[in-house]
Amino acid sequence: MPLKIPFMSRKLPQQEKLQDIESDNVPNHIAIIMDGNGRWAKEKNLPRIAGHKEGMGVVKKVVRHASDLGVKTLTLYAFSTENWKRPKKEVDFLMKLPVDFLQTYLPELIEKNVRVQTIGTKGLLPEHTQQAVDEAIRQTEQNTGMILNFALNYGSRHEIVEVTKCLANQVKRGELEPESITEELFEENLYTSHLEEPDLLIRTSGEQRLSNFLLWQLAYAEFWFTDVYWPSFNEETLEEAIRNYQKRKRRYGGV
Ligand code: IPE
Ligand code: IPE
Ligand code: MG
Repeated sequence: MPLKIPFMSRKLPQQEKLQDIESDNVPNHIAIIMDGNGRWAKEKNLPRIAGHKEGMGVVKKVVRHASDLGVKTLTLYAFSTENWKRPKKEVDFLMKLPVDFLQTYLPELIEKNVRVQTIGTKGLLPEHTQQAVDEAIRQTEQNTGMILNFALNYGSRHEIVEVTKCLANQVKRGELEPESITEELFEENLYTSHLEEPDLLIRTSGEQRLSNFLLWQLAYAEFWFTDVYWPSFNEETLEEAIRNYQKRKRRYGGV
C-alpha cells in the first residue's frame, strides 16, 4: 500500500490543494457541532478542560481552511444554553476560551478578512467573555470575507420562543395582523436573519443528534457525522465532509 502522506504536511500550491473539491460546489454555510472534547481528554487521562484547550487549536485550523476553500459562513456551536449544567470549573474555563482565542487569533482573523459574529444570548455571558467577543465583532465588522459565527449560550428552542414573544407583542400592540405572520417574517426575527441557511451540518464524536442547535435553520441542511472527537478533527476531515456533501443531490421536496 502506498504511504499516505498527511494532507497539510505537503506544501502544495493553492490550485493543487483544491484538486478533489469542486470549487463551484463548496457549501456556502457550514455549521459544526464541535463535540467530544471531554472524551478525547479522558482517553488520554487528561482533565476535560485539556480537551477544550486542544479543541480551540482545531477551531483555528478549521477557520483558516474553511476560509481558504471559499466557505461564506462558518457557524460553530461553542456553548449551548444547556451547558450551564456542567461543573462551575468547566463552565468558567469555557467562558475564558473566547478571551484566549481572540487574544491570540484576532490579528490573523483580521488579516484573513474574516468577520466575527455571534448568535445566542450574549447578555448572560460573563463580562470578560462579552468584552472579548464584542471587541472582535467591532474590529472585524468591515471585513468582507468569511463570516465566523460563534453560537455562544445558544439554544434553538429559546430562540424560537423569543421570536414568538416578539411577534405576539407586535400583534398585541396592533402593529401586526396574525395573518401577516409568514415564514419569512419569522426568519427575519431569528438570530440568523442576515445569514443564508446552513448547507452542511457536521457533528463530531459519534453522537447523532442536534442538541438544540439551529432547529429551524437546518430544515434542509445535509448532515454529516463522524466518530472523530473534535480535538482530532482537522483540515482533512473537513474536506472529507465537503466531498461527501458534494456527492449528494438536494431536492428540497422536488423531484
Ligand atoms: C464539546 O465537547 C464542547 C462543548 C460542549 C462546550 P464536550 O465537552 O461535550 O465533550 P464530551 O461530549 O463530553 O466528550
Ligand atoms: C452540544 O454538545 C453543544 C456544543 C457542542 C457546544 P453537548 O455535548 O452539550 O451535547 P449533548 O449533551 O451530548 O447532547
Ligand atoms: Mg459533548
